[in-house]
Amino acid sequence: MTNLQSGAGLIVVSNRLPVVLRWDEDSVCRIEPASGGLVSALTPVLRDCGGTWVSWPGSGTEAPDPDALLRETADRIGCRLRPVTLTEEEQHGFYHGFSNEIVWPLFHDLQSLCNFNPGYWRVYCAVNRKYAEAIAADAADGDFIWVHDYHLMNVAQELRRHRLSARIAFFLHIPFPPPDIFMKLPWRLPLLNALLQYDLLGFQTPRDQRNFVECVRMLVTGVTIRGRPEACITTLGQRKVRIGSFPISIDYGSFARRAAAVDVAGRAAGLRALLPDRQLLLGVDRLDYTKGIPLRLKAFANALERYPQLREHVTLIQVVVPSRADIPRYRELKAEIEQLVGKINGRFTRPGGWVPIHYVFRSLVPADLLAYYRVAEIALVTPLKDGMNLVAKEYCACSIEQECVLILSEFAGAAAQMRHDALLVNPYDVEGVADAIHRAYAMDIAERRRRMRRMRRALREHDIFRWVDSFLHAAIGPDLPVFPPSTEESPLRRGGDSPD
Ligand code: UDP
Ligand code: G6P
Repeated sequence: MTNLQSGAGLIVVSNRLPVVLRWDEDSVCRIEPASGGLVSALTPVLRDCGGTWVSWPGSGTEAPDPDALLRETADRIGCRLRPVTLTEEEQHGFYHGFSNEIVWPLFHDLQSLCNFNPGYWRVYCAVNRKYAEAIAADAADGDFIWVHDYHLMNVAQELRRHRLSARIAFFLHIPFPPPDIFMKLPWRLPLLNALLQYDLLGFQTPRDQRNFVECVRMLVTGVTIRGRPEACITTLGQRKVRIGSFPISIDYGSFARRAAAVDVAGRAAGLRALLPDRQLLLGVDRLDYTKGIPLRLKAFANALERYPQLREHVTLIQVVVPSRADIPRYRELKAEIEQLVGKINGRFTRPGGWVPIHYVFRSLVPADLLAYYRVAEIALVTPLKDGMNLVAKEYCACSIEQECVLILSEFAGAAAQMRHDALLVNPYDVEGVADAIHRAYAMDIAERRRRMRRMRRALREHDIFRWVDSFLHAAIGPDLPVFPPSTEESPLRRGGDSPD
C-alpha cells in the first residue's frame, strides 16, 4: 500500500456509512448494514488503512446516538467515525433532491427523469459546506482528504475557505456524462468549477474521464489542458488538477475465501437441492431504474418464448435490494417489477412444478449473497448505465468452480475491463439479451472455464487494494496518474485472448 507521508492522516468522506441508523416506532435506534457499491468498496480500504470516515449516518428526524455508532463502526471496521447529521429539510433537498433526482439520473444519461428544482441546488451547496466544516474540525495540515461520489462534488471548494494545507482528492463512483447531456444541468458551470478545486479527480473509466475533460474544454475558460489522455488541467489561478481513471474493484481474496467456506457451501447446496436439474440465472441489484431490471425480465421472457427448450431447464433468481424508497420513481419501479414478475410467472409456471422467476425483495445477509453467487450458473448484469457494477466482479470472484457465465451490459463500467470474457449485451436489445441467455445456457464447460479463469485472474491482480494504491500514488506521488494505462484497453485485458 502506498504510504501517506509520516504523520499525515487519511480522512475519507462519503455520504453513506457502512451502517445505517434506523429508528423504529418505539424510538429505539437500530443499526443496519448499508448496501451499495461505495460501501462495499470502501469498507476493506478503511479496515486496511485506518483513518477517519466522515459521513451521514442516514438516520431519520432525531439526532443519532454518536456513541453507539462509533462503537459499532469501530468494531466492524476499525476506523474513527465523524458523523454529519442532516435535518429533514437537508435530507430532502440534498440527498433525495439534488443528489438523487438530478445528478443520479442525469449522470446515467436519463435526463428525462430529472427534477431540476432550483431549491435543491441551494441545499446541496449548504450541505456540502456542512461536510467541509465537519472535515475542517477534524483535519490537520498535511492530511490527505479523499472525498467520494456525486453527493459531495462541492466539498473541496468549501474546504478551501478554511485555508487548510491538505491534499484533497475526489473519486466519482458513477459515470460522468458526455457534454450534450451534462449541458442540460442548470448549474453546470459552478459544478465544474467546484470540481476543479480538487487536487486529483478520479473517474471509473477512460470514457468518464474524457467526458469530463470535454465538458471543461467546452464550458470553462482560461484553463490549459495537457497530457495524453488529458491528465492535467491548469486553472486560471495556476492550480494544477490531476485527472485519472481508476476502475474500482473488490476485495477479491475475501470474496473467494468466504465463498469457499463450509457455511456458504452448505447454503449453496441447500439452494441447489431446492432448485435441482436446471441452470440458475441470477440478478442482484438495488431497486434502481438504472439497473435495467424490467428490460431484463422482458428479455428472460423473450428467451423462454423463443427458445422453448429453456423452459423447466432454467430459473431466474432476481434479488432486489430496497433503496431510496422516499423517491416516487423508485416506488413506481417496484410496482413495475412486481407486475412483470407476476405476468411472466403467470404465463410460464407449470402448476405444481417449475416457476420461472424467484423474486427476492430484501437485503441479503452476506452468507446468503455468496451462496447465490456460488450456485448460479449464469449472472445477468444488465444495467442501462453503471459506474462500475461490483456485482459483476463479486460474482466472478465467488465462481470457484469456474463453470459460470457472466452476461454483462456494455454500458456498465466493468465492461471496459471484462468485455472479452463476459458475454456483452446491449440491455435495450431484448432479443439480443435473450440470445445471450440462450448462448450462455448452451456454452460448454471448457469455454466457461476459459473465460471465467481469465476474469478471475485479472480480478485477483487488480483488487481493491491495488485500486487504493494507484489512487494514492496519483494523488500524492510526484508523477501524473499512472493507472490504468492511457488507452481504452484495460489492465484486466492483459494476458487474455478474445474468444469472440
Ligand atoms: N449488496 C448488498 N446487499 C445485498 C445485495 C448486494 O449490500 O443484499 C451489495 C453487493 O455485494 C455489491 C453492492 O451491493 O457490493 C452493489 O454494488 P454495485 O456496484 O453492483 O451497484 P450499486 O448498488 O452501487 O449501484
Ligand atoms: C451507488 C452510489 C453510492 C451509494 C449507493 C447506495 O453505489 O454510487 O454513493 O451509496 O449507490 O445508494 P444510497 O442512496 O442508499 O446511498
